[in-house]
Amino acid sequence: MMTTEKPVYDISKLLSKIESTYRSRTPKSGALYKVARSLMPGGVSHNARFFTPYPFFEKRARGQHLWDIDGNRYTDYWMGHTALILGHSPAIVRAELRKQIPNGLLPGTASENSFGLARLVSEIVPCAEGVRFCTTGAEATMYAVRLARAFTRRNQIIKMAGGWHGFNSSLTYGVHAPFEASESAGLIPEEKERVKLAPFNKIDETTNLIMDNAKDLAGVIVEPVMGGGVLPADKKYLQTLRNLCSEVGAVLIFDEVITGFRLALGGAQEYYGINPDLCTLGKIMGGGLPSSAIVGKKEIMILADPSVNRPKDERAWIGGGTFSEHALAMCSGRVTLEYLKKNRKSVYGSLEREGDEVRRSLNKEFEKRGIRSTTTGATSLFGTHFLSDHQNEISSQEALIESRRELELPYFLYLMAIKGIFILPGHISAISAVHTKFDISQLVRATGDFADFLVETQ
Ligand SMILES: Cc1ncc(COP(=O)(O)O)c(C=O)c1O
Repeated sequence: MMTTEKPVYDISKLLSKIESTYRSRTPKSGALYKVARSLMPGGVSHNARFFTPYPFFEKRARGQHLWDIDGNRYTDYWMGHTALILGHSPAIVRAELRKQIPNGLLPGTASENSFGLARLVSEIVPCAEGVRFCTTGAEATMYAVRLARAFTRRNQIIKMAGGWHGFNSSLTYGVHAPFEASESAGLIPEEKERVKLAPFNKIDETTNLIMDNAKDLAGVIVEPVMGGGVLPADKKYLQTLRNLCSEVGAVLIFDEVITGFRLALGGAQEYYGINPDLCTLGKIMGGGLPSSAIVGKKEIMILADPSVNRPKDERAWIGGGTFSEHALAMCSGRVTLEYLKKNRKSVYGSLEREGDEVRRSLNKEFEKRGIRSTTTGATSLFGTHFLSDHQNEISSQEALIESRRELELPYFLYLMAIKGIFILPGHISAISAVHTKFDISQLVRATGDFADFLVETQ
């Protein structure tokens, strides 16, 4: 990557040009957004779905494409928050849902469907000696913390500064910079005392933090590829966490809500060859429908067994969700995992190649125009960052904060408004098994055009 004087871009001029195209292409979305805002705070129910000036409203999705209510088509790299590894509404999922619908939606009792998915998950995920389904990732990570505390009879949890595990109150700390400040009004300050923040990928500082808290440390939770920033963990870092947790008797939790069935069939634990004690799963496992799971070592998972009569303070009561083991989600998850298992070589081989191609080519497009950037990620996950003068790479949250984040919205909005490519501004992107070579080359060309546009408005 070249070192040049930091170019000065007129961001508001850049944005106003792109925004006016976006507004003119999405008038129905603009009008609907005004009404949606009056019904739902911010017009959305997931914060990430809002971006300025307003999000387009989706009408239809199939394969790698989304269509909005104004008739624009987008090649989608957000892919349902990265959940849709087989694309939108794949035929195998549609067929399975059609079979199940007449036979019930929410059994509310033990069901063969969930047994089928649990068996697959335990075959595929290396650490999964026991499986418990729930409905969202936030629920799964909350349960992981509870299980870790129950098993160790300790209180402290270490998470990564910048780590995201869903919006449960056990882990909504240190997600956005400045990390020490509260993430939200309404959180209990005393709970924050029980959650310490480790600097991701920094072995020495993390080792010191773990050793300083060893006595009361229940668990360490980490995303093997940090979703915010799309930062892969160094293998050495994960191995250090593994060794230290074993040494001090703490539970190592991999939050594989994104990386599960994504980095490899067996997730990050297979990809890195390092097993956690507990792991949380979601997204891909639902095959496009809402479900999540907490899986892990038998000796920990049995604390959740309701058939064993334990004193109240010796059990870990998890698994209270009305919609857990929803029949449709169990079916869509099962056919998705069956497909991935049967086609693991071809699917994961091509996802890895395409991810490498995207990272290499996007870097090249910016570099050719003297724009300092890096596209990070692992296998099919990627995210583009603009480098500050003194930076050559982004491998930590600190580096991410120091990068030129002001250029991200113009880039992603340009792709959306002018090129029909949907990357949710500032968020992780995921290639699916249905993206084609043409799609990838379209993204590369569009990025080159944006780089030209950026240089012109300098
Ligand atoms: C790593 C990670 N953990 C947990 C969650 C929360 O999952 P959910 O949105 O299903 O609650 C997410 C969601 O994006 C995530 O990326």
